[in-house]
Amino acid sequence: MKLKLFGVSLLAVTTLATATFGIAQAEPLGLPPVPIPADNPQTPEKIKLGDKLFHDQRFSSTGEVSCATCHEREKAFTDTPLSVSVGINNLTGIRNAPTVINSAYLHSQFWDGREPDLEGQSGQPFINAGLDDHRGSPFMVGEKQRAWLKKDLAEIDINTPVIVFSHSPLQKIYRGWNFWTEDAEQIQALLKPFKKVNVFYGHVHQIQYNQIGNISFHSAMATAWPWPYPESNAKDPSHLPKLTVQMNRADPFFERDATGWQYIDIHSGNAAMTFSLTDNSTRTVAFNTKTNRPEDTRYQNNRIPPQDHY
Ligand code: HEC
Repeated sequence: MKLKLFGVSLLAVTTLATATFGIAQAEPLGLPPVPIPADNPQTPEKIKLGDKLFHDQRFSSTGEVSCATCHEREKAFTDTPLSVSVGINNLTGIRNAPTVINSAYLHSQFWDGREPDLEGQSGQPFINAGLDDHRGSPFMVGEKQRAWLKKDLAEIDINTPVIVFSHSPLQKIYRGWNFWTEDAEQIQALLKPFKKVNVFYGHVHQIQYNQIGNISFHSAMATAWPWPYPESNAKDPSHLPKLTVQMNRADPFFERDATGWQYIDIHSGNAAMTFSLTDNSTRTVAFNTKTNRPEDTRYQNNRIPPQDHY
């Protein structure tokens, strides 16, 4: 109900925005009527409320960010010239803000078209990690679950291999893309006493592995929505993930090399991953007992230098 109400408001905002630019009044000049969901009619009151909400900073946890922060009227409702939007506490997203002028007419919303309409779009500014999240940080395990983990681990002998499944990577890889777990160090400290620890996680959508102390980290592959590696987008060295094990990626622009099947052999207590890739040769990332870290058995040496990626 709440979402729906908000969707209406946003729809209203967009109409207002066009009106402000003198392109449209009630019936936009030269444009077809604004599509309005049959079960969600517009009223002057809703339009007024939408305008209010668009500028209401109370929606952000710090009270500093409203829709208008990123969709600025003076910048044609964008945040140009930023290359990525900036939300609360200077957290950055992965994209910049497109204009919201005439967005009620669009058949798909966002740069990747992942929402069909404004009602679908409207909830996302609140859950989009890194832009604003009312819980502070969505990729944080949090006190409650850390307490649970501590209790659970207390019953296990330190020689028992431990496998942890999580959504977020439980390490800090790359904040710009939210490949980041805010309380990673606290989780790692809980896992430290154990001889063999493997963390499997999603969220990253790439072949990604790392070793921190006794803990091996392995991402799960993407079944859809692959991402290129951060280094293909951000050439500034300060934007590169600081990994203890260098990534093996011959072509950082080939984003589909992380879609396919992944087989995990955990018999030794250390994970050996076999990646059966849709558009690439099979890769194996296995724990090397000599170097004490996961390694790609066939390292791709002929790397392609960074290029522009759009
Ligand atoms: C911190 C910056 C930020 C805030 C705050 C923000 N947006 Fe956005 N907005 C973005 C970015 C970035 C995108 C593109 C995201 C994507 O493509 O994944 C976007 C996309 C959109 C779109 C899709 C437009 C298109 O052409 O596809 C609409 C509509 C929109 N925002 C409206 C709003 C509304 C309404 C609010 C307030 C509830 C809001 N935004 C708050 C940054 C922001």
